Formats: sequence, structure tokens, C-alpha cells
Amino acid sequence: MNEGSEPTAITIIDACKTYAAGASAVRSVSLEVHPGEYFVLLGPSGSGKSTLLRLVAGLEVLDSGKVLFDSQDVTDAAPRDRDVAMVFQNYALYPHISVAENIAFGLRRRGTAKGLRKARVQEVASSLGIAHLLQKRPSQLSGGERQRVALGRAIARLPRAFLMDEPLSNLDATLRTEMRGLLGQLHQDLGTTTVYVTHDQTEAMTLGTRIGLMRNGELIQIGSPEALFERPQNLFVATFIGTPRINIFPGELQAGRVRFADCSVDVLNLPSDVSAGSNRVYVGIRPSDLNVATPAHDPSLPRLTVQVKLREYLGTSYLVYFVPKPLNRSTSLMPVDVSHSAEGYDESLRFCADVTATVSIESGGESDFVVDPHRLYVFDEKGDLIAGPASSHSRTALAGVSESSS
Ligand SMILES: Nc1ncnc2c1ncn2[C@@H]1O[C@H](COP(=O)(O)OP(=O)(O)OP(=O)(O)O)[C@@H](O)[C@H]1O
Ligand SMILES: [Mg+2]
Repeated sequence: MNEGSEPTAITIIDACKTYAAGASAVRSVSLEVHPGEYFVLLGPSGSGKSTLLRLVAGLEVLDSGKVLFDSQDVTDAAPRDRDVAMVFQNYALYPHISVAENIAFGLRRRGTAKGLRKARVQEVASSLGIAHLLQKRPSQLSGGERQRVALGRAIARLPRAFLMDEPLSNLDATLRTEMRGLLGQLHQDLGTTTVYVTHDQTEAMTLGTRIGLMRNGELIQIGSPEALFERPQNLFVATFIGTPRINIFPGELQAGRVRFADCSVDVLNLPSDVSAGSNRVYVGIRPSDLNVATPAHDPSLPRLTVQVKLREYLGTSYLVYFVPKPLNRSTSLMPVDVSHSAEGYDESLRFCADVTATVSIESGGESDFVVDPHRLYVFDEKGDLIAGPASSHSRTALAGVSESSS
């Protein structure tokens, strides 16, 4: 057991993995997971998250590259010698033994004395709220209870690191939220280095100290949840992080001004090396950054005229789905790099604003949104970010106006 010892750093150097008869699953990934960090691997299906996690666990063998735990090279170490605990989506409990024996399994294998084992199982079960289930068999438990047992088994022996692969995806939405809280709490209490795989960006944003966003076997961007939200390197990151999805308008950038739909806005924070000529760009505005125009708004602020298609009431806010008014039909609206988010996408519901429920806005009507120049993202034709919000503080100034005045 590692009780009282310092948390472990996990270093991945230039990891490559290609399955037989398959394309590259992990391509030259380098990554440092800091001691005690909750690191989330996020990405669409097939992006290589599980493969990377299994390489760290030793369940897959690297084609090339290295894995270090602190300064120890574990590249060739067997899984059981790495002292990590895995938690999977499908629980993987032993069906023929009790919950208590499942939780004690790792301790028994490591030769922990019986008395100590019993005490530890009690302690772990209490912290997970499953002390009353210790004598049951896994088949007698609900999905949420089973996943707690699987977590219990993982934490009982205080491993060097937790490696979790979509542990919550078999649970219903309510349980998932509850278990998310429990995972966060556990990490706060134990401080064990954790690598957590998910394709759910809400899970990633709420749990992660940092997130590594993957696509096609590559790490596209690594950063804090805030950094990925505020400073996405490209359209893929911008459209993957944030719900509802960021609105993307095709536009044109000329002399520091960007035109899109019926809107024209001076771009702030534009780097000096952007070519002065006319450039095709994509303009991104987060749904939470669109505010319904009111008389209290500065009339000089740019406005976006839209046709409201649908309004969803969420209690404190409305999700307003809209189409920008004079939409240039000849421009392709779906940019090159956001194809992953096209799953099940209803074309007419592509644009969305998240507005306070105190404003009046009707389906079928026309509406004006105020566009905050401080909250604009501008991407070049390849999808790389050219200019974005300077900081998250800029958001409050304008949002405050519409809330207090409406
Ligand atoms: N055992 C295997 N044999 C052959 N190809 C595999 C194997 N496991 C994964 N792959 C392939 O490797 C790529 C990465 O798979 P991986 O399971 O790591 O993705 P993932 O990001 O975890 O996806 P998901 O979100 O669907 O779990 C995919 O193209 C997948 O088809
Ligand atoms: Mg997977």
C-alpha cells in the first residue's frame, strides 16, 4: 500500500500503437500527468483514448515509446507490477464472491493480514455508502451499486494510480451525476494520480484538473477545462468543448473587421501577422455569449438578426434555436473541421443561444442578439484559432446588462 507516500507522476514519451490489421490507434503521443492530478482523456469514439490508457496500464504493448512512473521506466513491466487500479465501464466484478470479498480481492492478493483487510473493507465501503451491501453477491446489486463496488476494489489497496475507462457510461443520467460527485470527492480525499477516459465533455470539464483532447490517435490540445473552453486551438476543440455547441458562422475578415450573417464586428486581440487582405474565416460565438438586445444595451454594439425556430424552456434560461437572417446560401455552412459533431445534427437547429428566461422571445419571430466583441472566436480557413476572448472576465460586463434590464 502507498498510504502516506507521494502521488506518482506518469510520463508518456512518444507512444505509438498500431493494432494488427488496423490503422494507427495512438500516434506519437507524449504527455506528462502530474502527481496527484485528475487527468481526463477526452475525444470522439475511436480516437485512441482506451488504447492510450491500456498502454499506461500495461494491457497493451507499445510499438515504440516509453511509459514512466516517476523516474521508473515501466514500459516493459507486467500490469500487476505497475501497481495501478483500473475501473471499467462494465464493472468486471467477480460474480461468485461477495461484495466484501470483491473489495478485499487486491489486498488478499498482496498478502495483507486478515484483520487489516477487514478494517480496510469496512472503511472503504462506508466511504462509498455500500457498507450495508457487503454480504451480497454482485448479481443482487443495481448498476450504480456495482460501480461503487468496482471503485471500492480499486481504492482499497491504495494503488499508485487509478486508470478509469468510462466508468459511468452504463449508469442513467441521475446516477452518473451523483457518481461524478463521488469520484471528485474521492480524488479530493485520496489525492491519487488519476487518468480518466470519457467522451462526455461535461464529465471531462467537471472532473478534470486538465484535459487532453484526442482525435485520430493524436493529442490535439492539453489544458485546463477553462483553457480549452476559452482558448481552443482550433475548430475541433471549440466545437467539442461546451454545451450547447459553439455557433460557427462562415465569414470574411478584412482590415481587422469580420463580417458574418448580417453582422460586422471589429476583431479584438487580432495578431499583427494576420494578412491585411480579405480572408475567409469562421466566426465562433458561444450560445451563452448571445444576449437578446434590449434598450439598455449600448446601441453601438453589433447586432445579429435572427429568425427564432424553436425555444426550449430550462427553468432559469431558454435555449433559443435560430437561423441568422440573411443567410448566404451559397456559402457552405459546415466548416471543414467539425465533422465529428455532425452526428444526428438537425440543420435547422444548428444555431443556438442560451438566454435568461426573463426575456421575452417567441418561436417563429424575429429577434436581435447583441454580439459582444470580447467574446468572439475567429478561426482561419484551416480551422486554426486566430483571435479569441482575452479572458473569461470579459464575459460578465455585457451579460450583466441584459439581465438587470430585462
Ligand atoms: N483490439 C483491437 N484490435 C484492432 N483494432 C482496435 C482494437 N482496439 C481498438 N482498435 C482500433 O483502434 C482505434 C482506437 O480505439 P480506442 O478503443 O482506443 O478508441 P476510443 O477513443 O477508446 O473509442 P471509444 O470512445 O469508442 O471507446 C479505433 O480505430 C479502433 O477501431
Ligand atoms: Mg474506449
